[in-house]
Amino acid sequence: MWLVTPAQTADVNSIYEIEQENFSTPWSKLSFYEELKHHYSHLWVARDVSTQEIIGFICFWIIWDEMHILNIAVRKILQGKGIGSLLISKALNYAGSKGVKRVKLEVRASNQRAISLYKKFGFKKVGRRYRYYLDTGEDAILMELELKNS
Ligand SMILES: CC(C)(COP(=O)(O)OP(=O)(O)OC[C@H]1O[C@@H](n2cnc3c(N)ncnc32)[C@H](O)[C@@H]1OP(=O)(O)O)[C@@H](O)C(=O)NCCC(=O)NCCS
Repeated sequence: MWLVTPAQTADVNSIYEIEQENFSTPWSKLSFYEELKHHYSHLWVARDVSTQEIIGFICFWIIWDEMHILNIAVRKILQGKGIGSLLISKALNYAGSKGVKRVKLEVRASNQRAISLYKKFGFKKVGRRYRYYLDTGEDAILMELELKNS
């Protein structure tokens, strides 16, 4: 069983490990500490209840009635088991309860797995930022979701 909770400072090392194993240009550890400081930023972790191990995280901002998903990742060996979906659905439920009307994100054009995950939750492709990712020159796909329950 998995549990999603707001991250604590002590969780940043595990979050950073997951970040490093998933991204070629990972966020720094400092950036995760920074996210914990901002009132508009939410850094949440998914934990395996039996081992207490952190197995995934999501970072999103809520500013007025808009949510922006900045980062999400799951331990590589545990991907494809529903943990990413759990993190997104908890974050979207929370956003709905806070009156958020629309959710935005950017994703690498090649990241089919993440794009499928977002589409599953109703996100639509609304634009493209050419050569947005400086490391590879890859385009970003902009995706948006209108939240109906707010
Ligand atoms: C994207 C990511 C967070 C998804 O988490 P996950 O726990 O693997 O996702 P889930 O198991 O909940 O699967 C959710 C959906 O993703 C898609 N998906 C999962 N595994 C997939 C695969 N191997 N191929 C294509 N799509 C896949 C499916 O749409 C799936 O829904 P379904 O199971 O109902 O068909 C995870 O793969 C990850 O950490 N990737 C690396 C980091 C990353 O790219 N983050 C996104 C940055 S924008």
